[in-house]
Amino acid sequence: MNSEFAFHLIATDGIARRGEIAMPRGTIRTPAFMPVGTGGTVKAMYLDQVRALGADIILGNTYHLMLRPGAERMARLGGLHEFARWPYPILTDSGGFQVMSLSKLRKLTEHGVTFRSHIDGAAYEMTPERSIEIQGLLDSDIQMQLDECTALPAPHKEVERAMELSLRWAERCKAAFGVQPGKAIFGIVQGGDVADLRVKSAQALSAMDLKGYAVGGLAVGEPQAVMLEMLEITCPELPANKPRYLMGVGTPDDILKSVARGIDMFDCVMPTRAGRHGLAYTRRGKVNLRNARHADDPRPLDEQSDCPAARDYSRAYLHHLVRSQEALGAMLLTWNNLAYYQSLMQDIRDSIEKGEFTTRAAGISENWARGDI
Ligand code: GUN
Repeated sequence: MNSEFAFHLIATDGIARRGEIAMPRGTIRTPAFMPVGTGGTVKAMYLDQVRALGADIILGNTYHLMLRPGAERMARLGGLHEFARWPYPILTDSGGFQVMSLSKLRKLTEHGVTFRSHIDGAAYEMTPERSIEIQGLLDSDIQMQLDECTALPAPHKEVERAMELSLRWAERCKAAFGVQPGKAIFGIVQGGDVADLRVKSAQALSAMDLKGYAVGGLAVGEPQAVMLEMLEITCPELPANKPRYLMGVGTPDDILKSVARGIDMFDCVMPTRAGRHGLAYTRRGKVNLRNARHADDPRPLDEQSDCPAARDYSRAYLHHLVRSQEALGAMLLTWNNLAYYQSLMQDIRDSIEKGEFTTRAAGISENWARGDI
């Protein structure tokens, strides 16, 4: 356990990196996948289960938690770790992205963004300073700067304006955060699908000497090839001795290809959301349990998995639960999916250490391509 935030690289394999972030609340093994715990819960999972699957850190959302139950209330109740009973590191997103995608009647200025809650229509203001204040009230370990992410495709001028605004907001967030040795604030690279803007954003943020850097504004409508090209342009501009986090990504295939380009951290709703919609991730690709072909199938999802959800329940039972909209269906499939994602990350980490990442990644993709058993 460390009293300060400290990142170090353990091994590299090509551009892929195996590292560790040591923090007071625990050590994060990278490449890491952070399960999404938007409103203080990783939906359909006990956090003990999430931990047992190998998650070193989970993600929370400033936007949701400020609306409900409220940041000041959360602080009075001892912060998010105490509230949700997760004593390990938590990263919180700053709210900018969720305000843009979820809230109503937004108005964005240099100062910040005013909006109405998607829950009850109440008016709120989010500024860089307030975002950091809320993340502090939640007692978040890794706090994100407030940024503006443009959906793609977007006009060049619009992408440039949002990127420049995000840089100025990064400075304000850094000032508001001050000095907190055991915690971190990460900057967020923006710049859409424009190479020059990505480079400018990454260089300006690097000069701010933040403790880590996220790549934002990707997986927002562009093809995977564009996302990967942006990573190839952005990562070399970021300091090698700081963690790099690709926000909101992605599929298992996105993760493999982004690790190959130097990304250390990921978060995505995909495994949890898909689990609530009857979709299972396995070694052999995605399985839709709603499909009638499973109705009489006594086999488990994957007899080789360590996860009881994948190993001990028949596909017929899972199909029945999903079709009957039983809560247990969502619980078992979310468990299966997070188990798959965490085992993928463990595989990635092990193979980088052994210098076998490229061949292992090819083997994993080959298995997906072979399809369901
Ligand atoms: N989550 C996914 N993409 C983004 C982004 O660009 N910014 C923020 N703040 N969160 C995100």
